Amino acid sequence: MSEAFNKPRVAVLGLGYVGCVSAACLARQGYEVTGIDPDAYKVDCVLRGAAPFYEPGLDDLVRETVAAGALRATTSLAEGIAGMDIALVCVGTPSERNGNLSTAALYRVANDLRPLLQDRPGPLVVAIRSTVFPGTCEEVVMANIGPRAIVVANPEFLREGAALRDFLEPSLIVVGGEPDAARRVASLYAGLGAEPCLVSLRTAEMIKYACNTFHAVKIAFANEIGTLAARLGVSGEEVMETVCRDEKLNLSAAYLKPGFAFGGSCLPKDLRALVYRASRLDVDLPLLTSVLPSNDAHLKRAAGDVLDLSGRIGIFGLAFKENTDDLRESPTVTLIESLIGKGREVRVYDPHIKLDQLHGSNRSFVLSAIPHIGRLLETDLAGMLAWAEHVVVTQKPDSRAEAVLAASGIPTLRLDRAPRC
Ligand SMILES: NC(=O)c1ccc[n+]([C@@H]2O[C@H](COP(=O)([O-])OP(=O)(O)OC[C@H]3O[C@@H](n4cnc5c(N)ncnc54)[C@H](O)[C@@H]3O)[C@@H](O)[C@H]2O)c1
Repeated sequence: MSEAFNKPRVAVLGLGYVGCVSAACLARQGYEVTGIDPDAYKVDCVLRGAAPFYEPGLDDLVRETVAAGALRATTSLAEGIAGMDIALVCVGTPSERNGNLSTAALYRVANDLRPLLQDRPGPLVVAIRSTVFPGTCEEVVMANIGPRAIVVANPEFLREGAALRDFLEPSLIVVGGEPDAARRVASLYAGLGAEPCLVSLRTAEMIKYACNTFHAVKIAFANEIGTLAARLGVSGEEVMETVCRDEKLNLSAAYLKPGFAFGGSCLPKDLRALVYRASRLDVDLPLLTSVLPSNDAHLKRAAGDVLDLSGRIGIFGLAFKENTDDLRESPTVTLIESLIGKGREVRVYDPHIKLDQLHGSNRSFVLSAIPHIGRLLETDLAGMLAWAEHVVVTQKPDSRAEAVLAASGIPTLRLDRAPRC
């Protein structure tokens, strides 16, 4: 294979926004690249040394790389794929009428490649750059491409309008799948300043959806806050600019790990008030209005998982999070209420809760939800573990408690972490 001595030769399938930018940028990085697209207009543009659509800087880059002989283009898959080491698949995956993504172009690519790969001396590494739902690489591409290809997922994160810079200074590089092939694809981006994240195939596919939906949620959030602020005569820009100055809690990894439902004395109360006041002002805030129902749905899912456990259930953590004795709007209190309502035997241990030391709204909240909480509260972890047949962890234990839980050997459901499938 040529790459044993040189850089790998790269075919790029699809000369749209992602494919043409990828092809031209890789050619600039010194790779020999062939772009393949059934659209003769796009191929002609590239062959003439022009970008097939407007993207800042792309016209110049295509002209330079074509002139240097680093970038070629063809409408023929057979011609374009011959002698290539890596194929980057950048075909479209548009929405279908029902919202599902169309994998028709990917299916076609896999089926068209299959006979062309049969006589290759070694397998072709096929990296799917198109955005695809988890499972698509396996179910659509691997299921049809035949044995002469190794398929990895390599989602693209560039933004139109800043695509060249995003490609050459990537915010994130993700490659998922068979490790050797994933490393070879990651090596294409060596020197671009981002350490590649090598993950499983489905994780790579899911990461792209997580990123795009996160971006969409951020925009909708900022727009809803901005709309409400404007209605209140407040500058939404100033609010959001100031919010963004907090890089500990706001623009950070804080609150971004899947785990248990939120609660406590602030988040539910303040969301409720904001949504209520907005509705009185006739300001429609669908995203913010959906947050408490989303949290309730998450709590219900957790309750369902706990109800699936047999026998006596010991719960670690009663407060809404670790290192506090605040029980107000603790989702664990609601969880225990529903377990008791279903007739389940429950005991609970929380390192910071002593019923006789609770006062005011904190005490009244838990007593109105679970009047006999005193009978359920264990004062030491060992006592609860000696009684329980299953343990449910709702808040992060400290290292000592973690060791005691692990040593107990009792089957444990971790609600403080991402749910397991
Ligand atoms: N546009 C973006 O900013 C962006 C960013 C990241 C990821 N993505 C994802 O990348 C993928 C491509 O997006 P795009 O905007 O470049 O799409 P696009 O529609 O601009 O380009 C797709 C290209 O694929 C070509 N094509 C179709 N069938 C083909 C085949 N069998 N062989 C070779 N080429 C074929 C089409 O002719 C077209 O030129 C999508 O899955 C998209 O969701 C897009």
